[in-house]
Formats: sequence, C-alpha cells, structure tokens
Amino acid sequence: MIFWRVKPLDQILETAEKKSLKRQLGALQLTLLGVGAVIGTGIFVLTAEAGQKAGPGMMIAFVIAATVCALAALAYAELASMLPVSGSAYTYTYGVLGEFIAWIVGWALVLEYAIGASVVSVGWSGYMNGLLAHSDLFGLVQPGALALPEFLRSGLYTGGTFNLLAFLISLAVTFLLVIGTSKSARVNSVLVAIKIVALTVFILIAVPAVKSSNFEPFLPGGWGSPLGGVGVLGAAASIFFAYVGFDAVSTAAEETKNPNRNIPIGLIGSLGICTIFYLLVGYGAAGSVGAQPILGPDGMPLEPGSDAMAAACAASEALVCSKEPLAHALRMLGFSSIGNWIGVAAILALPSVILMMMFGQTRVFFTMSRDGLLPEALSKVHPRFHTPHVITIITGLVVAFCSALFPVGKLADTSNSGTLLAFAMVSIGVLILRKQQPDRKRPFRTPLAWLVCPLAVFGCVLLFVNLSMTAKLVFVIWAAIGLVVYRLYGYRRSQLAGANAN
Ligand code: ALA
Repeated sequence: MIFWRVKPLDQILETAEKKSLKRQLGALQLTLLGVGAVIGTGIFVLTAEAGQKAGPGMMIAFVIAATVCALAALAYAELASMLPVSGSAYTYTYGVLGEFIAWIVGWALVLEYAIGASVVSVGWSGYMNGLLAHSDLFGLVQPGALALPEFLRSGLYTGGTFNLLAFLISLAVTFLLVIGTSKSARVNSVLVAIKIVALTVFILIAVPAVKSSNFEPFLPGGWGSPLGGVGVLGAAASIFFAYVGFDAVSTAAEETKNPNRNIPIGLIGSLGICTIFYLLVGYGAAGSVGAQPILGPDGMPLEPGSDAMAAACAASEALVCSKEPLAHALRMLGFSSIGNWIGVAAILALPSVILMMMFGQTRVFFTMSRDGLLPEALSKVHPRFHTPHVITIITGLVVAFCSALFPVGKLADTSNSGTLLAFAMVSIGVLILRKQQPDRKRPFRTPLAWLVCPLAVFGCVLLFVNLSMTAKLVFVIWAAIGLVVYRLYGYRRSQLAGANAN
C-alpha cells in the first residue's frame, strides 16, 4: 500500500526543470553554510528550556541531539545528491515511498518550517525585549524607559498575553519574502561571523567563571520519563531544534565539488563545530550562573511553558526562567554591556534564520501545489515580484499568530515533531531505494547505510517519544487534519490521479 502512486524519479527531475549548477563549493564553504543555517534560537534561547528539563545534564542532551542529526544528515545527503530539486524530504519520499507518505511528510514539514519560524521569532523577541528593558540608548533615556508593558512582552503561559515583537518580526520577514528578498551569500557570511563572535565572547567570559558546585546535582531531572518532556532525553528532544537547518548542506549537493568527499565533511564538520560551541556555551552557562531547574512540590522540574512555571518565574532571576539566557547570564556575571551586545548580535542574526525557515515552508507548499496536492491558487506567482505571494502571506500570518501566542519551548517541540518524522522517512527511503534501484547514480552514498539509517530512525523515534505531551498531541491532531485534507482534496486532484492511481 505504501507504494501508491510513486512518482518516478526521472519525472521528478524533469518537472523541476533541473538547472545545471556549477560545482564550485568546497568543504570549507559547505561547513560555513551549515554553521550559518544552524546557529539560532536553539542555542541563544532554548538553553534555558534544556536547563529546566535536565539541569547541567543538558550537555549530554546536546551530544545526543547532535548524534541523531549527524546520522539523519548522512541519509539526507544521499537522497539530496540523487534528487537535487526543491521540496526536500517531501520530494524524496514522493519518489520512493509514494504519494500518501509524501503527503504526510509534506504536511509534517509545515510543522518543521512554519512553527520553526515562530520559534525563532519568539527567540528574537526575547532578546529585543531584554535589550529594550536594559538599554539606556547610550545615556539618552533611563534604563527601562523603552520596555514594553509586561502583557505585550510574551505570549500565553509565559507571563504575558500577546508577544507583540514576535508578531511584528514575523510580518516583517513575510514582507521581505513577498518582495523577493532571498539569502545572499555575502550577508550570510557576515551573519555567521556575528554569531560565532557572540558565542565566543560568551564562552570566554562564562567558562573562567565556572564553579564546580554549580554542577551538583548533575541530573536533577533524571534521564527522562515514559511520558517524555523531562530529563536529559526530554532536553535532547527540545534542543534538537538547535541543530535543524544543516540540510542546507545536503541540498547544495549539486553545487559541490567532489560531493562524495566534501558533503560528509561539510555535514559532519558543521554539526561538529556547532556541537563544540553548544557544549562550551552550555558548560559556561550552567557552570557560571547555574542552570538548576525550578522544582515543583513533587521534587521534579516544573514543565517549561506552563502556568506553574510562569508563576514560579515571575519573581525569579534564575537562568532557566530567562527569555534571553546568554545575555542574562553575562549581566548576572557583572558584564551588563557585553550582555547587551550579545543581545544585539542575536537581534541582527536571528531574522535570517526566520527567513530561511519561512522560505523552506513556502517552497514545500509550492511544490505540493504544483503536484496537485494543494489548490493551484496557492502557488500563484506575483506578477511583479515573481514570488509565490499567496502562500507566503498565509504562512506569514500563521507564523505571526503562533509566535504571538505560544511559548517558545512548546513551539520548538512541535516543530521538532515534524522534522523527526521527515528525517525518519528519508532514512527509510534511502534503504528502500538501495534495494529498488541499486544501479541509479548516487553522487553521494551514505556510508554504512544499513547501520546508519536504522540507527537514525531509532534516534528519531527516541527523541519523538521524549517530546512534551503537548507537542505529540498537536502532531497527532495535525496529522489527522492532514489525512482528511488528503482524502478530500489531494487524492482526487493529484497530478498522478489519472496516471497510475489504483
Ligand atoms: N537551528 C536553528 C535555530 O536554532 C533553526 O534557530
């Protein structure tokens, strides 16, 4: 049944009007591309969430999440090199597992990209609000004079009502996408530099201030619980978000010199660099100002993004309560103005991550509607800007409202649920394709595929189970809506409906 309406791979390549791109990227450029796409809200903001779930043990969570990503990345790269077309995991599954699974993956990618964009918008707003509250605008105003009223500083379950700045930045990025702003390599390299400098400065200040007493207890939330959402594995499931984005490297396969050598170097290199930075930031933050969770009456960490946590955080300066943990930690260590500059770095660098996520979302929807699975009106291109403006505006509004209302950690977990499904499907797809079409040209081959791919699937399932209950519930409801939409619309309207339906 899973082979319903498989879209032949050659047809995918044709529909996409394959452009032949020059092979010019080397291992170093690929690594930088990966680092630029990956560093964002995960490390700048979700460090507090990871601390609340795992305490100092969040450092183990960083390693677990990186390992799952590295395994999935190797699988991703094989399909990306065989099918260098837009639509990523959705397109790969269409060609291997059939339309039905592809639909589910495409539908799940909406969670990854659109909700992911909301996550980064909320992260941006945390730093912007922090800066407004602490800055004196070079002596022009009293510190705090610029701060927004409390209820507009964050969304529900986090002490506020409507996260105004997250809402506005999402709309601003939507506007840029509608008028056709895309990623520019030069801007990207400047932003990579800003992020790397900011994290390096943080590490240089925080690590020397580490006190071993802050690491006791090391695992206050334990390893995890069968319901998920807590402990080291719960933290790993959330902090997984910090590594999302590396698929930028796999999708550049077609432009890579000697892809069999350079793609794994780019993938593993960028994941490795980010992991080292994340571990040092986690070590510095937990060891210098402490990242012990706030415990409930049962002695277990309170759930981040819950009313109880918001109430406990109302009068707390703890790192795990902060919406801008890296800036907050430096202020606590007495480096207020450097903390503000870290905030400025996050404010400058995060919008490009929002842009990347929203761009990914619109392109997946665009490809799905080109395939007939969503109404054609969605893929209408603007006559003047030549962008898919209808879908971009719809996506932008959804992103804006989600970011205005919901807590960052819950959004991140929900985004991860979609990503994990897509990664697992891609890993399965690699193995099926190896069996079905062993002779097809593979510019990049996953090393030890029969070990790496099953391990990747296992890792994705492990992290999925450890997501918060809310995220798993949203995932199930979203999937159910997707099935109904598919049955009522895509199944009948698909481009393949008349061709090889059964
Ligand atoms: N990995 C990216 C981030 O953390 C998506 O913002």
